[in-house]
Amino acid sequence: YSEEDLYRPNFHFTPKKAWMNDPNGMFYYNGYYHLYFQYHPDSNVWGPMHWGHAISTDMISWTEQPIAIYPDELGTIFSGSAVVDIGNTSGFGKVSNAAPIVAMYTNHLDKGEGSVNQTQSIAYSHDEGKTFTKYENNPVIDANLKDFRDPKVTWDADRNKWVMVLAADDKIMFYDSKDLKEWKLLSDFKREEGSKDGVWECPDLFKLPVLGTGESKWVLIVSIGKGGPNGGSATQYFIGDFDGTSFVMDKDFETARNKENNFWVDFGRDNYAGVTWSNAKRKDGSKLMLGWMSNWDYAIKVPTETWRSAMTIAREVNLQKDENGYKLLFQPVKELNNYRSIKYKKENISIRGDTKIIDASTMDLASAEIQFNISDVIDKGFTFNLTNKQGDTLAFGYNKADKNFFVDRTKSGKTGFSENFAKGVSVAKRTSLSPDMSGTIILDKTSIELFFDNGETVMTEIFFPNKPYTKLSIIPEAQEFILGSIEMNKLNIN
Ligand code: FRU
Repeated sequence: YSEEDLYRPNFHFTPKKAWMNDPNGMFYYNGYYHLYFQYHPDSNVWGPMHWGHAISTDMISWTEQPIAIYPDELGTIFSGSAVVDIGNTSGFGKVSNAAPIVAMYTNHLDKGEGSVNQTQSIAYSHDEGKTFTKYENNPVIDANLKDFRDPKVTWDADRNKWVMVLAADDKIMFYDSKDLKEWKLLSDFKREEGSKDGVWECPDLFKLPVLGTGESKWVLIVSIGKGGPNGGSATQYFIGDFDGTSFVMDKDFETARNKENNFWVDFGRDNYAGVTWSNAKRKDGSKLMLGWMSNWDYAIKVPTETWRSAMTIAREVNLQKDENGYKLLFQPVKELNNYRSIKYKKENISIRGDTKIIDASTMDLASAEIQFNISDVIDKGFTFNLTNKQGDTLAFGYNKADKNFFVDRTKSGKTGFSENFAKGVSVAKRTSLSPDMSGTIILDKTSIELFFDNGETVMTEIFFPNKPYTKLSIIPEAQEFILGSIEMNKLNIN
């Protein structure tokens, strides 16, 4: 097996070559979803950042494009966002029927001897995001700060203005603007409110309808460099209200959060710096999000040489309110269903010992979507095992004593490249009170994405088997039980 055969994902985005981290500047326009990304084209480790670029008509099948934004005298190009300036508020538009795309990013300037300045700059595009012209009066925000980055701009339709959130070490700063050029500081939201480890990065702010109600709430997303639920970098969220000036956490949400710090976009170790697409309107009001499928704990050491890192599958984000309070739900985007080819379905399988579900002679386990249902889960625990003849095992499932979902990659294949990679088993407390459990499993060559209980608990992890996994089986924790249904779809994506 070559590195390409063994580790290049079948359907998760990777650059053809070199290093990638955060998704940047995601917007939808004229039939295309755009994804820019932190990119170091000259090496397979992090370095002077550029904005790489890829496009897709459905967020699943991506085509890489030439680099969109290069470093300049103001610095290298760190994370940021892009908007479609429909009303030409910036005045950058020139053709009457085409809206300019305006990107806002951080210029990272290393002045030597540990002295760093991070400023915010803008650039506009007249060709739907292929190429950008930098604004002549950059930077548009300079506060002479070292950790001051990742501007995410959003159109505040309630107040007809642009709002921008920015990460500044231990707080998120809120700004507004009428023209994307002049920005006014409105307020900040401090670290006391959230996890205290690591520097805050890559925020996002958006409004979501609460499912099944007439109500809407604001969501603040904040990634943190350290202190994730299972170690390293991870992304947390807050639910509250935004009045055009400041974000205030919802009281009940705050109480729930203080009781149990359980509000993570993903409990797996490999979903970081995720933000949402701008200008992508879904009929149901959901937002679309995607993250970097790695972790700063070991990202520069994962065993691929040609390229490094992939993105997660794009996800729909919804907001639910139930007896537990507010909770975000994440599901793979519906567009993935268009790639289902061959379907296998089994019902009412009695699980006693190690029970084979499917093997590679019927199903490509590196390009699959699997859905299962188990009823009356109260006294049931189980482990799914993905295995190969070499003895590599990726285990995941539900532990009934602790009510934890888990992913165990300690024996999944190559793990020794970093001591941080397979230190332990990742867990996530089950929050759903439903007696029935459902799960969706998305499998690629080097990643698993688990969406439990309708997307209430999500776990995303990467792995590097010595040879492809060839069998999926399930084992009961103690007593035998009936697996209500399991449906498997081969995904045909290239
Ligand atoms: C998050 C991050 C951002 C920064 C970028 C640099 O992973 O540290 O805060 O803009 O990566 O590549």
